[in-house]
Amino acid sequence: MSIQSKSISKKLVAWYKKNARKLPWRETKDPYRIWVSEIVLQQTTVRQGTQYYINFIKQYPTIKALAAANIDDVLKLWQGLGYYSRARNLHFTAQFILENYEGQFPTTYKEIISLKGIGPYTAAAISSFAYGLSYPVVDGNVIRFISRLYGINKAVDLSSTKKEIEVLAKELIKTQKPEIFNQAIMEFGALLCTPKNPKCQLCPYEKICTAKKQNLVSTIPFKSKKIKKKHRYFQFVFLVDKNNHTLIQKREENDIWKGLYQFPLTEHPSIEFTKPNLSNFAITPLLSDIHPSRIFKQQLTHQTIHAQFFKIYTKELLSEVDLDTYKYIDIEDLNNYAWPKIIDLYFNDLCITLF
Ligand code: ADE
Repeated sequence: MSIQSKSISKKLVAWYKKNARKLPWRETKDPYRIWVSEIVLQQTTVRQGTQYYINFIKQYPTIKALAAANIDDVLKLWQGLGYYSRARNLHFTAQFILENYEGQFPTTYKEIISLKGIGPYTAAAISSFAYGLSYPVVDGNVIRFISRLYGINKAVDLSSTKKEIEVLAKELIKTQKPEIFNQAIMEFGALLCTPKNPKCQLCPYEKICTAKKQNLVSTIPFKSKKIKKKHRYFQFVFLVDKNNHTLIQKREENDIWKGLYQFPLTEHPSIEFTKPNLSNFAITPLLSDIHPSRIFKQQLTHQTIHAQFFKIYTKELLSEVDLDTYKYIDIEDLNNYAWPKIIDLYFNDLCITLF
């Protein structure tokens, strides 16, 4: 162990003790709560995530409560966070722990990392925060801080670079309480060593930071791969019959938004669709009964979704259609289902224009 790494981690912990935010998951050692908080925080900022975390724990305070939940309700609570597979994995793993560990969260890193939906980062976070085990967390915040401090001027999405950073993080955590060190290094990356405009003038490492000395703060870290984003064009029909009922459908395929609900969908190769596709429904609305929306856009990690909605009033009753595929529901009940964000945005528009 170099003297330098000991002094670096000591400084980090001292900085944390002065600057840490008071956050609800930092006041518990319950591995279940820590797990939920880390999964929520992989999805969003601390600011938005805090409310989701509080709501989630209120609704499902224990592994047992989550295991007993209906997955539709879990997804509803997750609505707006995105990456719904994370919520499905939480639910699946809660049931798994109930069945295989009598509802007690496992206590070793090896067992924790073998759980579905828990990777090296989350396993390290739970192991250290709940049990004080010495496993460093390596997330985007940590990668940024370490690569700048040590001047690692290589693409950080290469597994060799990630390994190099992990070795340094392991060295740094050795002399400190793991649960404090891990919170500290993430907090440092989140508050001070930020992606844009890091606060170098407040940084205790300003004099020794390699990136700072070499004027590379704005270029480290960087990634080699530019992932090409796919564009997808969705056309939804929001059919409303004279009973004020509509048709919705649960997404079951292995695709985005699995488990969420949607209106009947047609996917097109481009945005150039002007008429709604009604081929699955024995209805012939008048042109005046068709209300197209604007085009909505949602940016996901690897794809951009463009969607247009057609609200259509029909004289025919929709209860005649294929009810294996679609659910026939009162439009008053739309709010009881979990929707992709892009459909929620459409609902917001409707409220604004209708009421
Ligand atoms: N981001 C991810 N995990 C976090 C934590 N435990 N505290 C603050 N921000 C985080």
